[in-house]
This record gives sequence, C-alpha cells and structure tokens, in this order.
Amino acid sequence: MALLPILQYPDPKLYTVAAPVTAVDEDIRRLIKDMADTMYAAPGVGLAATQVNDHRRVIVIDLSESHDHLQVFINPEIVARSGVATCEEGCLSVPGIFEKVARAERITVRALDGRGESFTLEAEGLLAVCVQHEIDHLEGKVFVDYLSRLKQQRILARLKKQKRQIL
Ligand code: NI
Repeated sequence: MALLPILQYPDPKLYTVAAPVTAVDEDIRRLIKDMADTMYAAPGVGLAATQVNDHRRVIVIDLSESHDHLQVFINPEIVARSGVATCEEGCLSVPGIFEKVARAERITVRALDGRGESFTLEAEGLLAVCVQHEIDHLEGKVFVDYLSRLKQQRILARLKKQKRQIL
C-alpha cells in the first residue's frame, strides 16, 4: 500500500491540465491502486490524479461506507448534462472548507474502466457532483474557483491560519 502526498490549495500544480491516458497498463493500474489507498486513508470519496501530482486523466470515486465500491474513470468525458443542483462540496486539497457549488443535476459520463474497457454511466445526486468535481481537477480547476473573490480570500486566510496552527 502506497499513500501519495495530496497537493494542497493554492498549490499552482493543481492548475495543471491533465493529459489523456494512452494505454491502461501496469503503470496506470499501480496509480489507480495508490490513488484508492490514498483516498480511503484520507478519508475522502473521490480523488483525481492531479491531486497527487500525476497529470494523467484518472479519477477514483467510492461513495460506499464500506469502501468496497471503487469506481475508476480513465479519460472521462461528460457527453450529456441536464438540470442544475447545488450541493455543499469539500475537497481533500482544501481541507476543512465546505462551500455550495451549482452544477448539472444529471450527467452522462463516458470513460474507460481499470481494465481499459469503455463504459457509459448516467449519474445524478452525489455521484454526479463527485464526477464533475473530479473532472474539474483534471482540467486544472478547484471548486473554490467557482466562489466569489471575497470568499476565496477568506478561504486562503483560513487555510494559512490552519497551517500555522499545525506547525
Ligand atoms: Ni477535490
């Protein structure tokens, strides 16, 4: 089991746009395993490769309480979206901060799974939120980027204070 360090906002590396995966090979499977271990240990319900400073288009999600329903999305693409829903979001790269973000209520996502097989999934609710949040990471976007400038400044100040307290 390998736990990977998670980049912390506002690390500029979080703003890297990830590159498509060209082959789902041993290397990618190791990355998926390490990302899942890191997500479960955090604990979190979703993690994008960007957050562990690997800029390939890989996402892991597990919304189960038992941590036995890992969903892997490689080169994910949202092919349809409808409705608007607002949900309070958090992020392992922005610890302790929860803010409301409006996103599509329902999405259809196409991706490759951990064996390199293509699949299409319709999602709503928390899964839809999570997939959109993680795909944003691959695009170099963090959920706080949707907030007002004032809120972003407050978050930065709070994170700085948290860091001082830890040190
Ligand atoms: Ni996140």
